[in-house]
Amino acid sequence: MGQAGLIGFMNVGIVLLIIGFSVLLSMVQFELGPLSNLPPARKWLMTLILGSGMVAFSIKLIIIATLINFPKQTIQRNVAAQKAPLVTDWEQLNKDTPRIRLEGMQKAYVWRTLPDRAPAPEWNPTTPEKVALGERLFHDPALSIDRTLSCSSCHDVRKGAGEDHRSDSLGVKGQLGSRNAPTVWNSGFQAVLFWDGRAASLEEQAKGPPVNPVEMGMPSLEAVEQRIRDNPAYRESFAKAFGADQPITIRQISAAIAAYERTLNTTDTPYDRFVRGDEKALSAAQLRGMALFQSVGCVSCHSGPNFSGASVFDPPPAAQRLFPVFDSPKYVNRYNLTKDAGANAPGSKQAIWRIPSLRNVALTAPYLHNGSVDNLPEVVRIMATVQRGKRVSNDANDNQTIIWSSRDRTLARIESAPLSDRDVDDIVVFLQALSSDRLLARSKSGA
Ligand code: HEC
Ligand code: HEC
Repeated sequence: MGQAGLIGFMNVGIVLLIIGFSVLLSMVQFELGPLSNLPPARKWLMTLILGSGMVAFSIKLIIIATLINFPKQTIQRNVAAQKAPLVTDWEQLNKDTPRIRLEGMQKAYVWRTLPDRAPAPEWNPTTPEKVALGERLFHDPALSIDRTLSCSSCHDVRKGAGEDHRSDSLGVKGQLGSRNAPTVWNSGFQAVLFWDGRAASLEEQAKGPPVNPVEMGMPSLEAVEQRIRDNPAYRESFAKAFGADQPITIRQISAAIAAYERTLNTTDTPYDRFVRGDEKALSAAQLRGMALFQSVGCVSCHSGPNFSGASVFDPPPAAQRLFPVFDSPKYVNRYNLTKDAGANAPGSKQAIWRIPSLRNVALTAPYLHNGSVDNLPEVVRIMATVQRGKRVSNDANDNQTIIWSSRDRTLARIESAPLSDRDVDDIVVFLQALSSDRLLARSKSGA
């Protein structure tokens, strides 16, 4: 019985109740009353007592009818909510059926914003003196063998978005590395570092580039320490940061660089403003993209406030993932996706990579570990296809995909409409909402 049926049922009930009550009234007034010689006041009392029993019985019937109807109605409303097109407007989303829409998606995913400060290990608290020293070291070419490259040559934080816009970074003596330089912005929130996640902290990471032969090319960490000790200008800053009696060692050099990197955070994004309560911060398309980012399952890897399951908010074991999860010869061959197997054994068909953060991703092309893709819509199509097994096409009738894994001998059927070009565009504009206003303004002014 639908809602209309229930109302009809109750109307009939009320009419029957009135008729019953009238019959009862006349019975008491003209039959029972005169028979037992009751005075008029007693006659009314008797009508009331017998009548209330009748009303109670009716209420009971109404409650039973409502309870029987209730679950059915909820299901129907849910089905209707799932069929409804994506709500494009936040106010409408709120007004209509916020709770039911969330039930329609796999689970309630909680969107969070970044705190202003990245957490530091107990032995290396972030102090202003250390940050100042770290900033200087980060920009000092003395860390490279021919004094041509500083950390900022590949991670431009003063003018750029913390990387170099090259697919493979350029080291000392014109040597090409094999991987794309990731941004250092918000890297303080990552639980493991590098594309393959091989470094467990910023302190550990900072010891790598100076002695990497194709990056800064120093012969040893002792040589790096010597370079810094040779510069008298550093003595005072090291004394201020670590105490006058401490020798200048690689431990302190990397501690200061890490402290500085922990201050390179961006929470000035439309996304963060939206989550903090400014409902106008995202456009309708961005909001659709955000809902798709959740419903397509991007959040199963790019989760938490830093949009990475490898962050301090969602600690490992979820830090690294297979890539590609689903085979797609088209993309794998075009972009050489499995040439470098990352953290997997060399030559493996599937590579293993750390889940990167997606903050400022719109500002850090080219993409992926090998920098092989130069535009964001293509990365979104690749991710949807090889990480979620989604079809990407504008064919609205094609709404199921059967995936046979010959390796695991499992069959999965994904029943959902393929991602359309518009869906891809919506996800892209949502990813643009993760760009820092500050970094975006710089990149626009071409500074
Ligand atoms: C020649 C270019 C180059 C120089 C110079 C360089 N880096 Fe990098 N950096 C890279 C590349 C390429 C990667 C990724 C390497 C990989 O994942 O295997 C990287 C990765 C990183 C990461 C990891 C970010 C993340 O999200 O995992 C941090 C942090 C970092 N570098 C900081 C530094 C610091 C500090 C210095 C100076 C001591 C430095 N880099 C010097 C190119 C460079
Ligand atoms: C199963 C885990 C997983 C899922 C699901 C996933 N990703 Fe990724 N994503 C990764 C990994 C791992 C990488 C790094 C790939 C590499 O190293 O080349 C990555 C890289 C990216 C990049 C490139 C980042 C950069 O700086 O180059 C973007 C953009 C991205 N993902 C967006 C998405 C979107 C959008 C979705 C949903 C359609 C999604 N991802 C779903 C694991 C995942």
